[in-house]
Amino acid sequence: MCGIVGYTGKATALSPVLEGLRRLEYRGYDSAGIALAVTQGEPLWIEKRAGKLGNLESTLTTVPDAHSGIGHTRWATHGGPTDRNAHPHLDNEGKLALIHNGIIENYVELREELEKRGHTFKSETDTESVVHLLSDARKKHGGDLAAAMREVCSQLRGSFTLLAIHSDEPGRIVGARRNSPLVVGVGDGENFLASDVSAFIAHTKHALELGQDEVVDITATNIVITNLEGDILPQKAYEISWDASAAERGGFEHFMLKEIYEQPKAVADTLIGRTAGLDPEITAGINLEGISKVVIIACGTAFHAGLVGKYAIEKWANISVDVELASEYRYREPSVDGNTLVIPISQSGETMDTLMAMRYARSKGARVFAVCNTNGSTIPRESDAVLYTHAGPEIAVASTKAFLTQLIAMYLIALHLGTVRGSLTSAEHDEIVGHLAELPSKIEQVLETVEPLRALTRQFKEAASMLFLGRHVGFPTALEGALKLKELAYMHAEGFAGGELKHGPIALIDQGTPVVAVMPAFGSLLAEKMASNVQEVKARGAIIIAIGDGDLPSADHMIRIPATHPFLEPVLAVVPLQVIAYEMAIARGNDVDQPRNLAKSVTVE
Ligand code: G6P
Repeated sequence: MCGIVGYTGKATALSPVLEGLRRLEYRGYDSAGIALAVTQGEPLWIEKRAGKLGNLESTLTTVPDAHSGIGHTRWATHGGPTDRNAHPHLDNEGKLALIHNGIIENYVELREELEKRGHTFKSETDTESVVHLLSDARKKHGGDLAAAMREVCSQLRGSFTLLAIHSDEPGRIVGARRNSPLVVGVGDGENFLASDVSAFIAHTKHALELGQDEVVDITATNIVITNLEGDILPQKAYEISWDASAAERGGFEHFMLKEIYEQPKAVADTLIGRTAGLDPEITAGINLEGISKVVIIACGTAFHAGLVGKYAIEKWANISVDVELASEYRYREPSVDGNTLVIPISQSGETMDTLMAMRYARSKGARVFAVCNTNGSTIPRESDAVLYTHAGPEIAVASTKAFLTQLIAMYLIALHLGTVRGSLTSAEHDEIVGHLAELPSKIEQVLETVEPLRALTRQFKEAASMLFLGRHVGFPTALEGALKLKELAYMHAEGFAGGELKHGPIALIDQGTPVVAVMPAFGSLLAEKMASNVQEVKARGAIIIAIGDGDLPSADHMIRIPATHPFLEPVLAVVPLQVIAYEMAIARGNDVDQPRNLAKSVTVE
């Protein structure tokens, strides 16, 4: 939700802090701010502005030299996106600055108490209570900021990543986390703290994981991690496998377009070494025998990958699968036991609802096999096993390549379960694997349609709404196409199962309504059914854009994709849908990579 970065070291702090914020802006972009520790014992230098990071940057004409600082890019929860509510927040002396990602649930009572003690508040945020609390605790602990942070964290309810800096010790930054991400970047004579590794990847590939309720205390040359009781904890180091160029636009107009074009590689990387069966190292921590049902939990685009996964797992592994929106699942006390296999799917590995739903299932004894794109994030850390997708960093807020790799992960898990359960013959297995291996080059072929599709899309830029139809795995594909369009074009869009049309949605069809039909494999029974559905809407004035591996005579516009195994079709069919949403956003003058009101990683409820 918010992006957080801290730097202490030999360089002028403004540059790594700003660079980190640019990389983290996908997490939230309604205001941004920086605090620098310039002179020991003097008030901190601080600048913060409502609006995107660019607004803040335009004010940074005369910035003093400092070797440590913290920066924040915000997605507002408590308090609107104003200059005053932007982070960092300061104590009353202006010497202590704090930034926060998450929600402090008990901030009202804390604030009342602090106001009684004489603290003056300047914002409407939940965060400001914490800076005042920290200020008092620091005094109580003789100026020890880490001890103060430990005490304060034990008084907070909710989720948080916190970073604090005090001008009495300018080279020191103290951080803490609970249910929100924070990683440490270990440099040479400099150290970093950030919401994710992209913030410091240009400077170091050495990172440390931080666990739940841990406090980290860094200077340029030293890192100490403790629990809330103050016990020093061992450091869990890992190497980051991608480099800075992966997080740059590389000549593309937008990150989203770059990421659309990266899909063949992302799919190939996710498949590599896995088609002959999952590496025993992946499944070592989980017993997949004797499972009575599978529950997939996810949010947003990942939920759509889960829906496709259901079709594959039920068919290939012959086991019943529920796909649940994590936010619904977690609060309805669903029936789950030790024979339930739970599969959380999450690009970020930090989505709060998915994490909490997974924790609920775990508490009931479920076995958890996560699908995740972010190494070392919370969801995989708390799972019995994890299948990492290898999409690389996805910067555009609307998910593209992460979705395709989530689909691949679901097929691989379905194949694995089918093998473990003996429900899939080796001939069937090999046939599917053959089709999987061809997907990267087939996606390349689909990408050849991008430019004509962009031109076609512009014809519909004034449309009031756009509908998406699909059957079988084409149905979740249609849902994903509609979600992409909503996110990017701010346009009414709905995805429907073809068979449901006549039960209501057909009333939406008007003269000229664009309808995208995700066609099942041509020649199949379902393709005939969809062709009838297309006729039904066309007869009521719809303009048909069909996506499929053959020619549909009733289509006004046909987008051809290569033929593949029917269950794998979403991997190819969703690519044109991504392009339609991308181009529609441009045609309507919207911000493609940072659509309004959204954030990439939703670490609050
Ligand atoms: C946000 C993003 C979506 C994403 C969803 C789940 O809403 O904008 O693109 O699908 O969160 O995120 P996750 O990281 O759990 O896959």
